[in-house]
Amino acid sequence: MKHFINLRDIPSKDLKKILKDAKIRKKARQKLSNLEVDRDVPLKGKLLIQMFEKSSLRTRLSFYLSIKQLGGSTLTLRPDELHLSKGGESIEDTAKILSNFGNAFMLRTDDDKKLLEFKRHLSVPVINGLSPSSHPSQILSDIFTVEEIKKKPISKLNITWIGDSNNVLNSLIEASVKFSFKLKIGCPKSYRPNKDIMRYIKYTKNKILIFNDPKKAANGADVIFSDKVISMNDKGDKIKKLINFKKFKINKKLLGYAKKNCIFLHCLPRGTEVDEKVFASNQSKVWEQASNRVHVQKSILLYCFW
Ligand code: CP
Ligand code: NVA
Repeated sequence: MKHFINLRDIPSKDLKKILKDAKIRKKARQKLSNLEVDRDVPLKGKLLIQMFEKSSLRTRLSFYLSIKQLGGSTLTLRPDELHLSKGGESIEDTAKILSNFGNAFMLRTDDDKKLLEFKRHLSVPVINGLSPSSHPSQILSDIFTVEEIKKKPISKLNITWIGDSNNVLNSLIEASVKFSFKLKIGCPKSYRPNKDIMRYIKYTKNKILIFNDPKKAANGADVIFSDKVISMNDKGDKIKKLINFKKFKINKKLLGYAKKNCIFLHCLPRGTEVDEKVFASNQSKVWEQASNRVHVQKSILLYCFW
């Protein structure tokens, strides 16, 4: 049994194996519709319990289809209906019950510590479906999308992030270490990655460059990633932040600094960080990106049961 909490804790070879498995599975079910089960029915009889402490559209739907296509089922819990949040039941006791009734637990949380506490008390795998500091299932799936579209290993591509230093970027940074790709980050000076992440970058001697000029970050990119300037956990001055990010908006002019066939990715939901013309262009692959979550998460679930 394995947990899936942060990319930095998972060996590269396992992450690559997850992507290889996802590629095989995706190909094998080209003619099947959404609710049809993979032929080998690998998770027959297994129950994935999911809980969302924050809003979600894509993660909720994609994990639902992921477990269904593997032959299992899912139950989504609302935190406000549990004793855990209402009546003060402990994570320890909640975890015992989740482990007795379910076979895996997917949590989107407003507090990273909860993931670790659940991990400590669960006897089934816990999967991070987004926390304030990371979004690993999103980024692993995005690497799949990049390699699928570019038909190359990501290590041979120039990857750029233009936007806030948030949970999604943290996972992208961890991925750049695990998959050895060059990463350029474009963000205003006061919104650089936090100390913990900077230490991780330094410690892993990773090739990450941070620019305060979005043009320099976009220069020569094969892929440009972005995300909302204001995340769900943001507590700072939102108006000030939006003003500071104005010149980091991804428009056609900025995309002009990247390679001609550069693709644009965004985990969604979007805000004002991307111009409609870029978002709706052929270079934007956001819908393929969202759909691939199902395929990669299936292989993440299988990894958890290895
Ligand atoms: N990208 C993503 O995780 O979307 P949701 O917040 O809708 O799940
Ligand atoms: N950074 C965003 C990602 C949403 C999928 C947030 O945390 O709100």
